[in-house]
Amino acid sequence: MKESNRLKENLTDSEFNIKGECAISLLLTKLDIINIDLSRKIGRNVIQMRYGRMKTYESTCKKLKKKNLEKTFSAAVENLTDLIGVRAICSYVDDIYKVAGILEKQKDIRLLRVKDYIDAPKKSGYQSLHLILEIPISFQEGIQWMKVELQLRTAAMDYWANLDHQLRYKKGKKEAKLIDEELRQCAEEVGKLDRKMMEIRKKIDKI
Ligand code: GTP
Ligand code: MG
Repeated sequence: MKESNRLKENLTDSEFNIKGECAISLLLTKLDIINIDLSRKIGRNVIQMRYGRMKTYESTCKKLKKKNLEKTFSAAVENLTDLIGVRAICSYVDDIYKVAGILEKQKDIRLLRVKDYIDAPKKSGYQSLHLILEIPISFQEGIQWMKVELQLRTAAMDYWANLDHQLRYKKGKKEAKLIDEELRQCAEEVGKLDRKMMEIRKKIDKI
């Protein structure tokens, strides 16, 4: 079988795909439990929304190409951290770190890597906290640790990332530099807005 066909098969209708969906369900449930527990203690919702997805074959090919990697399943599994991805939208910036801190302490989760693009945004302006995790899934043949990329962000960061993603496809090379700068400035505004909202909440918390 051609390697690219094998990649397609593994990413769509396969054991890897089913196991990935199980890892997503498990992490989503863990996030729900954290949210229920925290909301009860602090009297407000901490996670507004959460969802997961398996990376599509098309998007995997695009990323492998961008990274100059072979179009094979092993290259994808070894080099891409977001084949299995979960995103959680949190109310405030400090909630993001609360949720991350609780997850990190759980005994049945391995934390492989933290990428803090809130503390140090990407050159584009992109902000989010990324945790590369391994989640154990029990199957008949034993426990398998599945790698999942969890992206934690506020609604404002999510709004910016979604529009940035959309606009990125539309912009030509000539305008790219100017637009990059404008998008980066918008990201800075998003950061300011998030900090301001958190300050307001903290003021109200004290009353
Ligand atoms: P990728 O090749 O994009 O995966 O970069 P990376 O391997 O250095 O990983 P990184 O953690 O930096 O980014 C992974 C994911 O974060 C991407 O798949 C996007 O979901 C998101 N991301 C990173 N940078 C940007 C950005 O500038 N704009 C948007 N909209 N999303 C971004
Ligand atoms: Mg990546």
